[in-house]
Amino acid sequence: MKVLENHSLKKLNTFGIDATAKYFVEFRSIENIKEILSEKKFSTGNKLILGGGSNLLFTKDFDGIVLKNELKGIELIKEDTDFYYVRTAAGEVWHEFVMHCIKNNYAGLENLSLIPGNVGASPLQNIGAYGAEIKDHFYELEAFHIADKTIHTFNNSQCKFGYRESVFKRELKDQFIITSVTFKLLKKPKYNTSYGAIEKELEAMNSKEVTIQAISKAVCNIRMSKLPNPAEIGNAGSFFKNPEVVKGKYEFLKIKYPTIVGYGLENGNVKLAAGWLIEQSGWKGKTFGDAGVHKLQALVLVNYGNAKGNEIFNLSQKILESVKEKFGIELEREVNII
Ligand code: FAD
Ligand code: EPU
Repeated sequence: MKVLENHSLKKLNTFGIDATAKYFVEFRSIENIKEILSEKKFSTGNKLILGGGSNLLFTKDFDGIVLKNELKGIELIKEDTDFYYVRTAAGEVWHEFVMHCIKNNYAGLENLSLIPGNVGASPLQNIGAYGAEIKDHFYELEAFHIADKTIHTFNNSQCKFGYRESVFKRELKDQFIITSVTFKLLKKPKYNTSYGAIEKELEAMNSKEVTIQAISKAVCNIRMSKLPNPAEIGNAGSFFKNPEVVKGKYEFLKIKYPTIVGYGLENGNVKLAAGWLIEQSGWKGKTFGDAGVHKLQALVLVNYGNAKGNEIFNLSQKILESVKEKFGIELEREVNII
């Protein structure tokens, strides 16, 4: 295991921001983690756990050690009448893991196909798309506690999952390195095609029957048509969360803005499409040097080449302020700012 100094992170974050890490190391085992953290300068200094780098924005060089997760391995650990329990190491690529499940007919994660990043970060913000979230099929995870250097197990309720939320983004932030995640997957699929675009795409694909393979393909097609590919244009997906407002506020806004996009929630509140709010505030397709707002999806901020992290951050701040001024709604960033 080699600790590199002043290591470039440009190819290790999907925004393509040219930042460096003072120290950088890849870990392939829990022993590796223990070994690194046994050095005083690393156990006490700043640490960043890095997966696929698809949900963070570097606004400056990282003055500490970046620990790149390379833990690998997927294992069917048990099964019962209805479920497969599949444990996957945190350094596995999320989409490759989903493809493994689909190939083996482990059902439940097909709607989450093609989300970038690694398995280890998936519980952090309870990744979600097309009517599904990992919490629906999450069984437990194992995580290394940086301070006491032992492995802890968290079940579904202990993770306190919410919309793009978990305990690891809140009260336990920066305390644990997630090392494996176990999913409880269905033997008999329950197809989730409630998201309108999936049904339409299945029709367009002329799919004879609904299968987890067909749903996965439909989701991949939709995603490729809507979202910029980070290999071509730097981005980290949705930059902000979709805000939740009380029904009264939604109804008030709807009178003034009849085309506002909102979805009713079980708790009676309404989730608004942040992309719509940003587009209506005039930002869609705008560029400022190499920083910009994507031309097809206003919720996605992009780096057209050599934008600096703080240029993207400043743009996000201006968007926040203008949406607040026009609609009285405070957007919250979804991307982790480093
Ligand atoms: P990173 O960016 O490497 O890390 C993100 C955060 O998690 C950092 O704070 C990091 O320190 C921490 N972290 C990473 N690994 C660990 C670990 N093992 N233990 C502890 N902390 C850790 N997200 C969705 O939910 N739904 C989508 O539909 C979606 N679409 C996207 C589309 C595009 C084009 C892009 C670029 C991103 C999209 N995202 C989406 C966001 C992103 O894919 C997810 O948040 C993903 O889970 C991030 O994984 P990562 O490995 O890249 O995390
Ligand atoms: N819209 C606009 N203008 C835009 C963009 C969107 O008006 O520029 C409106 C449209 O009416 C559209 C609606 O917003 O129908 C919703 O847009 P979309 O279906 O693209 O989804 P989203 O709400 O923008 C969310 C997630 C995505 C996830 C998709 C699909 C958040 C913050 N984002 O986006 O997740 O893939 O739904 O389920 O919840 C991510 O987290 O990085 C991410 C990409």
